Amino acid sequence: MNKDNDVPSVEPVVLGILGSGKGSNCEAILQSIHDGELDARVGVVISDVPDAGILDVAERFSVPAQYIPPGKFATRLETSAEEKMVHVLRQHEVNLVILAGFMRVLKEPMLQAFPRRILNIHPSLLPKHPGREAWKLALKEGDSVAGCTVHYVDDGIDSGEIIGQAEVDIFEDDTPESLHDRIQRAEHLLYPMAIGYFVRGEL
Ligand code: GRF
Repeated sequence: MNKDNDVPSVEPVVLGILGSGKGSNCEAILQSIHDGELDARVGVVISDVPDAGILDVAERFSVPAQYIPPGKFATRLETSAEEKMVHVLRQHEVNLVILAGFMRVLKEPMLQAFPRRILNIHPSLLPKHPGREAWKLALKEGDSVAGCTVHYVDDGIDSGEIIGQAEVDIFEDDTPESLHDRIQRAEHLLYPMAIGYFVRGEL
């Protein structure tokens, strides 16, 4: 029996996707489920930005979508907002949280509610270039490869245990936009694949 603090332990895996932006990774995950390549369902999509594209993506796939006002801080949720997020995720029977462009650091309420059950995708080959706009740093520092990383979320910034990575080349004539596009195309393959490993207990 589940205690109140436990995440639901019954398969199939139910994803809760959190994002602040356009939602292309969310779309890739939903498409992969729709195509029968990923054996999971999405219980709810949540955003801290009222008009984020990710909410429209959810609607297009007929998935419940909800905006949760983040409160007064710029880089994290107010505790009451984070507790509300836990509540909404539980209401929708979520047992694996997927960060897909969610621009706030998660704290105790979420980390305690979903221990080792929160994944993130980051646009660099971690541990290189954590933080925002990592592809710009890769260009600035003259790297010859860039890429993306799926990792578990802990209380640091892009610091959790690495699950998988995909590399992309950097070309001499790359702009921040062209490199970011190439990285995102790699993300759209890597994230559903990494979630698949988790779902099948193969990590
Ligand atoms: C991705 O590039 C991801 O690496 C980063 O935020 C971006 C989200 O893009 N964490 P999208 O909203 O999934 O299109």
